[in-house]
Amino acid sequence: MAESTLRGRRIVVGVTGGIAAYKACDLVSTLVKAEADVQVVMTENARRFVGEITFAALTGNPVSCDLWAPRADVHHVALADFADVVIIAPATANIIGKYANGIADDLLSTALLTFTCPVIIAPAMNSRMLASAAVQANLEALAERGARIVEPEEGWLACGEVGAGRLPDTGVLVAAIEEALRSRGGPLSGLRVLVTAGPTREPIDPVRFISNPSSGRMGYAVAAEAERRGASVTLVSGPVSLEPPLGVEVVAVTSAAEMHEAVEAYAGEVDLFVGAAAVADWRPAEASGEKLSKDGRDEMTVRMVRTPDVIASVARWEPRPVIVGFAAETRDVVANAAEKLRRKGMDLIVANDVGQPGAGFGGETNKVTLVDVIGRETDLPLMSKAAVAAALLDRAGELIASRESQ
Ligand code: C5P
Repeated sequence: MAESTLRGRRIVVGVTGGIAAYKACDLVSTLVKAEADVQVVMTENARRFVGEITFAALTGNPVSCDLWAPRADVHHVALADFADVVIIAPATANIIGKYANGIADDLLSTALLTFTCPVIIAPAMNSRMLASAAVQANLEALAERGARIVEPEEGWLACGEVGAGRLPDTGVLVAAIEEALRSRGGPLSGLRVLVTAGPTREPIDPVRFISNPSSGRMGYAVAAEAERRGASVTLVSGPVSLEPPLGVEVVAVTSAAEMHEAVEAYAGEVDLFVGAAAVADWRPAEASGEKLSKDGRDEMTVRMVRTPDVIASVARWEPRPVIVGFAAETRDVVANAAEKLRRKGMDLIVANDVGQPGAGFGGETNKVTLVDVIGRETDLPLMSKAAVAAALLDRAGELIASRESQ
C-alpha cells in the first residue's frame, strides 16, 4: 500500500534548524525510494545542521532556501502549486510560532501561508520548550486550522535530557504523509471503491489464448477519478499497457477466474463496485500444458465453457455495494442494457453502442447512456473516457447517498 500511496506524489519537506534535521535525510530518502517527487525547503538555521547538497543529491531536485533567489516564477507560489502534501520535519518552536501567527520572513514561512494542501507539522525540541505555554498555544491554533500535528515522542533528547520532544522515526512520519494523502477530502472521501478493468486472457495452451481488444482505459479512468475524489481505490486489472493510476492499489490478473478470485477477496469490504473489465464469457474447457502441435491437422476444435460472472457474484455480497456495470451492445442498446441491469443486480449501467465511431473498445473517447436502477436514462454526448468516468461517479455518488439516507 505504502508504495502506491506515495508513487508520483509531490511532497514538500520543510527542514528547520534543530538537531533532528539529520533525521530528515532518512525521511527524504524513504519518500524518494517510494517514487515520490520531493522538494526540500530549508531554513537558514537548518543549513547549520545539514548541507543542502545532501538533500539535492537524495531528491534529484534543487533545494530551496532563499526567498530572494532569482527565478522566472514566484517561488513560494510555485511550491504551493507543486505540493500534494507538505511536512515540516523537524519543526522548531520558531517555525511553529511563525506559522501560527502568519509571519512570513523567509521562503518556508512564506510558502506555509500559501499552501492549500494538507500540512503536517512534526515538532522536535527540548521538552520544556515544547511544554511552554507559547508553543502549546501555537500548536493548538494550528491544529484548529487544520494542520496535522505529529505527536513528538518521549525519549533521550540531544540536550541530554529525557522527555517529550523527539522527532518520531521515519515510519511514523511516512504514515502521517500517507494518511494526509488518503484523506484530502472530496465527494467520495472515506469510501472504498473496487474497479475491474481491461480484458482477460483464457489460455488454450502455453502460447495461445482467447481474449478481446479492451485497452483498460475506461476502468483506469474510473479508478483515477475515484481516487481524485478521495476514495480508497483498488483496481483489479487484466493485462493492459497502461500506467497504474496515482494512489490506486493495482491487483494484476490474467484470466476471468483469477479476476473473480481477486474481486471476491474484497467481499463485504467495498462501498462501490465498478465492473469495467471486458471479462471473457467463455474459456477453453482444458488448457493444454504443452503447446498444441499443428502438424498433421487441418482443423482444431476447442470446447468452451462459461467463466464466472464477476458482477453477478458481487451482487450476492452482504453488505452489497452499489454496483456499476457496462454493457457493450451493437443494437437496442438501452433496452438490452436495462435488461442486463436487472438480471445482474446492478444499480447503474453504462450502455455503450460499440458500433458507433469513437465509442467502446480501445479508443480515447466513449459515447454512452447511463441507465440506473430507478429507471433514469441519461444520454451523454461523445466525450473522453475521463469525462465518462466523472459522469458515472457523479451518478454512483448520488446512489450511495440515497442509500445512506434510507
Ligand atoms: O453480460 P455482459 O458481459 O455484456 O455484461 C457486461 C458487464 O458485466 C460488464 O460490466 C462486465 O465487466 C461484467 N462482466 C462480469 N463478469 C463476466 C462478464 C461480464 O463482471 N464474466
